[in-house]
Amino acid sequence: MGNCVGAPVKSLSPASTRPPSPGRLTTKSISSTPTTEKLSSISNSTFGQSTGSGISIDEVYPEGRILEVPNLRIFAFAELKTATKNFKPDTVLGEGGFGRVYKGWVDEKSLNPSKSVAAMVVAVKKLNPESMQGLEEWQSEVNFLGRLSHPNLVRLLGYCWEDKELLLVYEFMAKGSLENHLFRRGAALQPLSWKLRLKIAIGAARGLAFLHTSEKQIIYRDFKASNILLDSNYNAKLSDFGLAKNGPTGGESHVSTRVMGTYGYAAPEYVATGHLYVKSDVYGFGVVLLEMLSGQRALDTSRPSGKHNLVDWAKPLLSDRRKLARLMDPRLEGQYSSKAALKAAQLTLRCLAGEPKNRPSMKEVVETLEHIEALKTRSKESKDLPSRHIARNHSPTPVHQCSPLHPRHDGTGSSSSRANHHQSPTLR
Ligand SMILES: Nc1ncnc2c1ncn2[C@@H]1O[C@H](COP(=O)(O)OP(=O)(O)OP(=O)(O)O)[C@@H](O)[C@H]1O
Ligand SMILES: [Mg+2]
Repeated sequence: MGNCVGAPVKSLSPASTRPPSPGRLTTKSISSTPTTEKLSSISNSTFGQSTGSGISIDEVYPEGRILEVPNLRIFAFAELKTATKNFKPDTVLGEGGFGRVYKGWVDEKSLNPSKSVAAMVVAVKKLNPESMQGLEEWQSEVNFLGRLSHPNLVRLLGYCWEDKELLLVYEFMAKGSLENHLFRRGAALQPLSWKLRLKIAIGAARGLAFLHTSEKQIIYRDFKASNILLDSNYNAKLSDFGLAKNGPTGGESHVSTRVMGTYGYAAPEYVATGHLYVKSDVYGFGVVLLEMLSGQRALDTSRPSGKHNLVDWAKPLLSDRRKLARLMDPRLEGQYSSKAALKAAQLTLRCLAGEPKNRPSMKEVVETLEHIEALKTRSKESKDLPSRHIARNHSPTPVHQCSPLHPRHDGTGSSSSRANHHQSPTLR
């Protein structure tokens, strides 16, 4: 049947001859360090949804945990075909470099495909045979995400590998990606409030902090708005561990690796040298914070020249209260105090420091964001602080344009582009 738990898993090894992916930052190959460990055999009869007592794993392990071996259900291709109604186009949730993501329905306990009204919704990511991402990233996802459990990491439930078919099955994140909420102008999407943006930033920061403080530090390497998914309560969870790497060992400060990631988010030292630091992730976090504050994409070639790269033009505005007003997302007007905005801007600036060692740790980032969140509440409760809202004078972010290269399916019927932040075909 190919789907039983505990069935022997095909031995996986990184694809050594894989060409660079489109949408990727790629430079000369610096080292051929394998991206992942070998996939261990899989055995377990629970699929990480609950402890069997009605309490979720996240409640039992609020600080997260790392399993010895991936705890995943192996699906037969036919099962996933049934679960997604034969990969029906109207079940498409979105599309990325790996392929399309479909909505599927399975039984909560057995994870068998289900047509019951009580069926659990899952997200099924299916490799597009033309994708340049492939086995290596699929394997990394299984090895990393399959073993990681934390309230701010998307739960990988299982996978399918049959012939050329590679699929991944995740918990369904009802509100989609942060990218959709920040940059899509659909009628269905209300702009994210200041409060929600802070909540999302804190959740994503906790996810990264967990990775960075785990025993073998894990560098996520692909922190960006499209990889932050939101559940029905806007809890943020990191997805996509295809580029994740174990941190440096033996007293080294960094790992040397082929440059991969996404333009606009990748840290400058990494792009320039291939030296990947834990703090390279902090830079990516700073870029996303900047996107959340400004409502502008990290890269957008439809902005006036000189403003294509958000960090380049926005960095000088972050340290000055008055200049900051020009940067803030107009859709946030009236929702935050200038003190909170300035503190968030200062934190962003520190995350974007040129030298990795001058960036804060993610633990510190979490604490600072929590402080900002508390500030806001306090200023609301005590009437002594007049709320001084920052005025704005810039025009809304231009609507995404369609890309012939990567038509995107976001389930809203609007096909929009990856072109703005995935600026060139060699970028992801
Ligand atoms: N678990 C999930 N639940 C709900 N929607 C999801 C889930 N995973 C992905 N999606 C949707 O599918 C879209 C595509 O996701 P995917 O991770 O494949 O690509 P991406 O992150 O946009 O790009 P990249 O390939 O560069 O990572 C997401 O933006 C999101 O809308
Ligand atoms: Mg993604």
